[in-house]
Amino acid sequence: MSLFHIVEARPSTDWAYDSLHALEVAVTTELLGEDQSVGADWSRANYSSEVTSIKGLLLALPGAAPSDAVAGRFGLPEAPASPVEVLGVVEFAMPTRDNLHLMDDVYIQVARKARRTGIGAALWREARRIAAQHGRSATIAWSHHLAGAVSAPERVEPSTGVGHLPVDPGSLFAQSLGLTLAQVERESRVVLPVDPELLATLRAEAAARALPAYEVVSWVGPTPEEHLERVAEMNRTLSVDAPTGDLDWQEESWDGERVRVFDEMSHRTGHSVNTLAIHAATGEVAGFTLIHVHHAYPHRPEQWNTAVAAAHRGHRLGLLIKAVNLQELAADTPQARYVTTWNAGENDHMLGINTRIGFRLHSVHGAWKA
Ligand SMILES: CC(C)(COP(=O)(O)OP(=O)(O)OC[C@H]1O[C@@H](n2cnc3c(N)ncnc32)[C@H](O)[C@@H]1OP(=O)(O)O)[C@@H](O)C(=O)NCCC(=O)NCCS
Repeated sequence: MSLFHIVEARPSTDWAYDSLHALEVAVTTELLGEDQSVGADWSRANYSSEVTSIKGLLLALPGAAPSDAVAGRFGLPEAPASPVEVLGVVEFAMPTRDNLHLMDDVYIQVARKARRTGIGAALWREARRIAAQHGRSATIAWSHHLAGAVSAPERVEPSTGVGHLPVDPGSLFAQSLGLTLAQVERESRVVLPVDPELLATLRAEAAARALPAYEVVSWVGPTPEEHLERVAEMNRTLSVDAPTGDLDWQEESWDGERVRVFDEMSHRTGHSVNTLAIHAATGEVAGFTLIHVHHAYPHRPEQWNTAVAAAHRGHRLGLLIKAVNLQELAADTPQARYVTTWNAGENDHMLGINTRIGFRLHSVHGAWKA
């Protein structure tokens, strides 16, 4: 008698997103000391949009697969229509506009009571089988660890030599699968409100270098029509200019339409606060930053993209757009308690700006490759 079987949840399997959320609450609380889940509605919105990648959510369920189960698009049974206990999940995305060699964002979570029974490894094998079926030669998987645990005497170091992870179940599991640690990302936080005087001082210092050669515009919500191409260009820049360690990551293909698709997805369950820098003489885009507020969790907005175009570096634009955007956020979401951001450990320049604003290390994230 099998202890478990693996099924695919489709967007129509509504209950699966509530189960995923419950597991995320438990696992983020265990790993990071608090609920850092994205929320069931965000997952529903995410999995219902496959315009730029094929997204997978596989569930490990108790017992053997029913003999009459219908096979879905990955050759696995589809999840039943009514809720059942979920023992573990694997999520993944296969980009369809670029990075066609890649299966990315692989993340495995197993319910505590069901661990060390082979579920995590079985979910991994299914993800790899599906990757091969779709011609994906490389896989990137993630692990998450509280920064305090990193002072443990034993550590795992990435091939880049920058940062390290503790030896804990997540890293031991990844190593047992034969994965290698390609990069360590840092999650940092700034407690809100940032002192308004500090923000005003940083803004004035940066503006003295950047203005009037550059103009700064901010908005809340989806990207206005006239900036779609500019934001697309900044996303393209970000996809290759941020350090990618030992990961085989290629430039993303962005256009205005893709920005619309991204906005449509992220604004179904939240909103964003955006600041753009434009070169005044040419109208060229010079920098962009975005803070996303999940409506379910307005107390912890997330700093997503920040990029300054190579041709426009050295004018304090990074500091300027971040200071302006945090001022906008203070006006827009006064109930926010902290902002979270993620950076490659190698990204000295961005980390330097963040430190001046008051961001401090909170957790570390392993990017593992196979
Ligand atoms: C990491 C995690 C997914 C493992 O799931 P699991 O179902 O317990 O894993 P498996 O039973 O398939 O274990 C496979 C191998 O990984 C290693 N491993 C897993 N957990 C381990 C632990 N706590 N200590 C030491 N080795 C461990 C072992 O080599 C194990 O093989 P073995 O049991 O035959 O010795 C689970 O602990 C979890 O959900 N953790 C929180 C989320 C997380 O960290 N995800 C990161 C994935 S990279």
